[in-house]
Amino acid sequence: MSGKGRFITFEGIDGSGKSTQARLLADHLRTEGHDVILTREPGGSPGAEEIRRLVLEGDPDRWSAETEILLFTAARRDHMERTILPALESGKIVICDRFADSTRLYQGLSRGDLRDVVDKLHALMIGREPDLTMLIDMDPETGLDRALSRRGTEERFEAFGTDLQRRMRQGFLDLARSDPDRFHLVDGNRPMDAVAQDVRAVIEELLASVD
Ligand code: ADP
Ligand code: TYD
Repeated sequence: MSGKGRFITFEGIDGSGKSTQARLLADHLRTEGHDVILTREPGGSPGAEEIRRLVLEGDPDRWSAETEILLFTAARRDHMERTILPALESGKIVICDRFADSTRLYQGLSRGDLRDVVDKLHALMIGREPDLTMLIDMDPETGLDRALSRRGTEERFEAFGTDLQRRMRQGFLDLARSDPDRFHLVDGNRPMDAVAQDVRAVIEELLASVD
């Protein structure tokens, strides 16, 4: 099921620098001659981008917690079918800004304990983990300031504030500890280039490894 490509995800709290680092890594790997797809969640395929608008815009109470899990999982399923799996099958490197770990935390923890529902649905409908996940660790206040400074129409989760950011940060660290082979931690409280150097070093090791 894993194909020949490599599946890399970036995770971390809002404003931790995931999108910036995902883009810098994609640019770097392309200049080195790799075939790279840079994508994001929720979104990454036409159908999933439509679902993105449903979950990130409008009234925060628009969906029940359970419906929200279904919507994020539906978006992911479409993204997998249409974008990620075909790219991996053709040997590309897929870099995805957020993936299932975000659902485990945001939908699993933020509105009651629904982690078990998230895990069951993941097993049933997605059934795949990334080859490697870069977790950008970040002080919650700084992350929130950065996220709010580029505030747009998508403020669904940023609106929950510092307390949620703090819980999400701890949740990401706990997840990373539970799966040390997949997760690699980088300190995001540094200049972009320093973070990017660390990311490159980790990815070079992954690309050099034989399946
Ligand atoms: P995320 O995708 O995790 O929400 P972004 O990459 O969009 O984070 O970064 C959020 C904001 O912080 C952007 O305005 C970005 O330019 C800025 N930023 C990203 N990385 C750094 C960094 N290492 N130092 C300072 N500012 C940064
Ligand atoms: P994103 O665009 O990555 O936001 P940011 O750049 O601020 O980190 O993601 C948008 C929001 O979607 C973010 O607040 C986290 C939320 N989200 C979930 O709640 N569940 C998920 O499964 C995913 C992928 C994202």
